[in-house]
Amino acid sequence: MGLVKVCTAADVPEGEVRRFQVNGREVAVVNLGQEGFRAVDAICSHAHYFLDEGEVDVDLETIECPKHGSTFDLNSGKPRTLPATLPVQVFPVKNESDDILIEVEE
Ligand code: FES
Repeated sequence: MGLVKVCTAADVPEGEVRRFQVNGREVAVVNLGQEGFRAVDAICSHAHYFLDEGEVDVDLETIECPKHGSTFDLNSGKPRTLPATLPVQVFPVKNESDDILIEVEE
């Protein structure tokens, strides 16, 4: 495992999500404000749609798939609603001096 810089804190406004490529993977970085940043696989586990085009719920700490509406827990990656049944991968995030770093497999 290694830490990789994905973006800066200013790149992702509070309550929003942005997609970045990290080691050839699409990663959605979410800014939950006081609760910090989260990073999950940007591609829905149900079909090939980008979660970063969906809505973030800061209070519930979820992101909603724009295609069929499954919501995913940003801490566990597990879907909270159907039709998705499989989790998306979650990446540990560190905010170091406003650099957003995530842990990915080498
Ligand atoms: S593609 Fe995401 S819920 Fe269907």
